[in-house]
Amino acid sequence: MSEYEISIVGTGFVGLVTAVCFADRGIKTICSTRNEKNAELINQGIPPFFENGLAELLKKVVDEGNLVCVTSREEAVLKSDVTLIIVGTPFNHIDKSINLDYMKQAGTDIGKALAKKDDYHLVAVRSTVVPGTSRNMVGKELTELSGKELGKDIGLVMQPEFLAEGRSIEDTFWPDRIVIGEYDERSGETLQKLYERFYGDHIGENCPIIRMNIESAELVKYANNSFLATKISFINEISRIAELVPGVDVGKVSNGIGLDYRINHRFLNSGVGWGGSCFPKDLNAIVAFSRSKGLEAKLIQSAIDVNDDQALHAIELAEELLGSFNGKTIALLGLAFKPGTDDMRYAPSRRIASKAVSLGAKVKGYDPKAKESAEEAFGQDGTEIVFVDSVEEVVKDTDCAIVCAEWDEFLELKPEFFINNMRTPCVVDGRRIYDALEFSKQLKYRIIGHKLE
Ligand code: UGA
Repeated sequence: MSEYEISIVGTGFVGLVTAVCFADRGIKTICSTRNEKNAELINQGIPPFFENGLAELLKKVVDEGNLVCVTSREEAVLKSDVTLIIVGTPFNHIDKSINLDYMKQAGTDIGKALAKKDDYHLVAVRSTVVPGTSRNMVGKELTELSGKELGKDIGLVMQPEFLAEGRSIEDTFWPDRIVIGEYDERSGETLQKLYERFYGDHIGENCPIIRMNIESAELVKYANNSFLATKISFINEISRIAELVPGVDVGKVSNGIGLDYRINHRFLNSGVGWGGSCFPKDLNAIVAFSRSKGLEAKLIQSAIDVNDDQALHAIELAEELLGSFNGKTIALLGLAFKPGTDDMRYAPSRRIASKAVSLGAKVKGYDPKAKESAEEAFGQDGTEIVFVDSVEEVVKDTDCAIVCAEWDEFLELKPEFFINNMRTPCVVDGRRIYDALEFSKQLKYRIIGHKLE
């Protein structure tokens, strides 16, 4: 047995959360990142980004000596028995296909390290990769660079992750299933044993372990994200139909269908649409993958198209209230792609701000956690907005407030708050958090999915 049981290559959001959760269960974990500053922070128990509950848990596991971070992948691999690859798989901007550069490099580095190791070593791909990548790219790098054989000296599995930002620690501790795509029986068995120890009684009826071949597991992840994103785009399309008929409220419709046990109510909240690091990247990647094989993934492409329009629908609703954007000041409440995170990747607020500016408005933005990342993201987009530090400041002297992310502190706001602080009290409820009747009685108000009678 090595000094550490598992090593994790990559300390992004999924990598670090996974490392911390393993370590919390007493499994000695070594993670590696090339970013020296991040490694230093992690070793001091400080996460380099915000995620609910992570700071407390990281501090605890570092203090207990169950987690260390190094800058050498070789060191991490050689000091452990199992290596999880959790590196980013972004998309290429031109054709939106997946970019596997980090994945290939991880395979190369681990393969080189394994050339120096005698004992059996299991490699698990946890990043989202298109079918065929784990076997044909990672597996190939591992064997070519180590000079060893898959299934004999090296095990290979693909285990998709399903954790969502903002609740990733909970998701990691209480998954509803574990999917293992295995190169061979021994590889799958080795990972299954690790999880049986990690989860104990949680494994069973409430959380089965499902084993399959590697490529099926790779597709499970894309199918999962595509289904969830399509479910949201579906309810957003229904919300647009609802707006055609005064008095129809998409919230009621969503409730009506969500009670059908075959549908269920989760991911049926209509709003300004989905963003984040996963849905946009994964849906585009699987569409590009299918196209490369001669198949048009029409339904998934439609889910993307509906979503692209949905953020800008908030602008249309604001226009109904304001007439023109020219010379007006707009307040954005919530900038991150959802509450509980500071992640700005593909956040709907970015498209909304850029459109408002292009229509001649000034934009102010406030987010309880994402100020720094938002400054960077809007800088990249070339969208000029003013960042402030409180919800009072953001609405002060503005002409229209648009709710882009439903942070808790926005939920409690009453019509008086907007009336007392804004130049012209207008609210576009892009996340459907306010009581439409109460608000519309007191100020100019539009809500996605409900045209008031
Ligand atoms: C998503 C999946 O939920 C995870 O299972 C998956 O592991 C992860 O992607 C990934 O591939 O790594 P995440 O992007 O963190 O997780 O966040 P979600 O909670 O799924 O929300 C995604 C977007 O959908 C957000 O912008 C959210 O505001 C939006 N959303 C969600 C809605 O507009 N309506 C809903 O009903 C639910």
